[in-house]
Amino acid sequence: MTRPIKRIAVTGGAGQIAYSLLFRLASGEVFGQEQPVALHILEVEAMIPSLQGVVMELEDGAFPLLKEIKTGHDPFTLFGDVDLAILVGATPRGPGMERSDLLKKNATIFVEQGRALSASASTHTQVLVVGNPCNTNCLIAMSHAPNLPRKNFHAMTRLDENRAKAQIAKKASQPVALVRRLAIWGNHSSTQVPDFVNARIGYRDVVEVISDRHWLEGEFVQLIQKRGAAIIAARGKSSAASAASAVIDTLRSLILPTAKDDWFSSAVCSDGNPYGLTEELIFSFPCRSKGNFEYEIVKNLSWDEFIKEKIRVTEQELIEERRDAFA
Ligand code: NAD
Ligand code: LMR
Repeated sequence: MTRPIKRIAVTGGAGQIAYSLLFRLASGEVFGQEQPVALHILEVEAMIPSLQGVVMELEDGAFPLLKEIKTGHDPFTLFGDVDLAILVGATPRGPGMERSDLLKKNATIFVEQGRALSASASTHTQVLVVGNPCNTNCLIAMSHAPNLPRKNFHAMTRLDENRAKAQIAKKASQPVALVRRLAIWGNHSSTQVPDFVNARIGYRDVVEVISDRHWLEGEFVQLIQKRGAAIIAARGKSSAASAASAVIDTLRSLILPTAKDDWFSSAVCSDGNPYGLTEELIFSFPCRSKGNFEYEIVKNLSWDEFIKEKIRVTEQELIEERRDAFA
């Protein structure tokens, strides 16, 4: 029996991330090889001609699972009946900019898209915000979408987790697949906290395998916090293929049950969080999924003084971003 089509909205369809992401969604990497999909691709009006080129390429991919492509510039029309909305479209930062510089510039986009989701999507619609500053953009969208459960909103910190795992694996000369339980706490920004204290390589604590605490607290943390900026400095453009890859990883982690004794990072609504952190923020936590987007925040992890202080800083930054965004 053929399954009902999964409808996936992607915004920023003519941009760099979408140029990789759309093809991976069409090939069945997220929902699997039995699941037909439709793509609802949103762009600003001026970029629709360029988006038509991407649509031609999607057609030329002859993807058996891709049943329909809709394009447009009106989220109220395009978001109707979607199962998943991946909000990528926003102005990326250029060399020398902090993500917070984008706050005002991009906020209006997420007000409109939150309203459109609330008006036209159904309560099961899941939302993943990638466009920066993604935590606060997600908070803005969620706040303007009262008809959708708050639990359905995520901002992407999986790229940070992937970066952290890769650097730990490299330092320990171990395969990256062995690095697990490596959560990012807080904001997708230069205050984010890659939690090496609770992380493992195989069955050993990272801090046992890598005894150089000075490297972990210094070079490692800063490298992850500043990796986005380093890529912009090198490429003149922000990360794109690795970001698309992290979108796929985030969605797979939410759709499939999480392996025993592991977790993944996603920035979710902090209401009722088990760590007493400020409510009504989109804060990255270690999460586990039972499958089909049924996730919960991992409880009872302990923080040492170093991690605790860093989490306080990223929490404060998110409070300030919220204040500026809603001023
Ligand atoms: P890009 O400039 O190549 O593409 C963005 C596209 O979004 C453009 O084509 C633009 O026309 C479109 N757009 C702008 N406003 C829109 C709107 N209201 N509706 C629909 N489309 C709109 O940028 P990119 O490299 O694809 O990056 C997109 C965003 O993702 C940026 O904000 C970037 O900073 C962010 N990003 C986040 C992560 C993360 O880990 N969370 C990683 C990489 C990039
Ligand atoms: C990244 O982390 O690569 C993106 O968020 C882009 C940026 O502005 O750093």
